[in-house]
Amino acid sequence: MAINMGVRNLLSGDLVAFPTETVYGLGADALNLEAVSKIFQVKARPLNHPLIVHISTISKLQYWAREIPDYALTIAEKFWPGPITLLLPKTDLAKDFITGNQDCVGIRIPRQKQALSLLRKFEQENGLGVAAPSANRFGKLSPTSAQDVVEDLGEFLSERDLILDGGVCQVGLESTILDCRQKTPIILRPGAISVSEINQITGIETKLINNDGIRVSGLLKSHYAPRANVYLKGEPKKGDGFIALSNIDTPIGAIRLSSPRDVIQFAHLLYRSFRLADQKKIKNVYVIPPMGDKLSAAIYDRLEKASNR
Ligand code: TXA
Ligand code: MG
Repeated sequence: MAINMGVRNLLSGDLVAFPTETVYGLGADALNLEAVSKIFQVKARPLNHPLIVHISTISKLQYWAREIPDYALTIAEKFWPGPITLLLPKTDLAKDFITGNQDCVGIRIPRQKQALSLLRKFEQENGLGVAAPSANRFGKLSPTSAQDVVEDLGEFLSERDLILDGGVCQVGLESTILDCRQKTPIILRPGAISVSEINQITGIETKLINNDGIRVSGLLKSHYAPRANVYLKGEPKKGDGFIALSNIDTPIGAIRLSSPRDVIQFAHLLYRSFRLADQKKIKNVYVIPPMGDKLSAAIYDRLEKASNR
């Protein structure tokens, strides 16, 4: 079974790319320096960029994090397994090669079935966590299908590394990242779990992004970018790409890349549409971001970064 092969890879210090509900991750045993180094090589990611540790159950949180504020536990119990990563003060188990020399560690329990099964079985073999960034080259679009991973990383993976195919990712955008090291949580990367949901369940007014001194690669100004130039303003010309909700007409001459019916589908299709633009060698893509739904903040965040070049 594929999952068992994935576990074997983790145990032997090889890599396994796996589906989650957000995007595909490139995983390695979070305690194995050599294995984790391979992630950095394959992604061409700077060594000081920290990795999220994935676990299968809240009972494993204590191995990685200490001084967990009550609100963080409330959030974990409500939204895990799910698309939110918590940054917490780290234990000694979380080494510098995981945290990028910072005093905190990012932890997530994904809800995608194969991901959970991989993590569970790894833990049954005494694994404590799987370090996994998105399975793309540094600065590029995150993969939302196994085929995307093959295209992005195939030539950089070794023969022993494995890609688990779990179909297309349900959400299609990376997890919400919540800094839980102070009295009030701070959202460093918006995702499918929104500010209002977090406020509602904690009763605390969450702050939005405040990136002072924290190294979060997704917070670089330009990121999540296709090869095409992305524009959030202006009119597409003939041959330019166009992405908008289905109730918005395609400007004359533009190439429609997707017509999502709502905000959720917009997020789900966004990276797919960007990849399509690159496949079609489209140079410029015009996007009309959707408003209103809780996912629109995450969509706007990624679009802003993609357009910042
Ligand atoms: O949805 C997701 O979060 C996916 C799936 C695979 O779980 N993972 C993902 O990982 O997007 P990555 O590495 O591509 O983005 C995670 C972000 C990075 O910008 C990283 O710098 C930040 O989280 N991060 C992780 N651990 C951190 C830490 N200890 N301190 C500050 N930032 C951290
Ligand atoms: Mg990434």
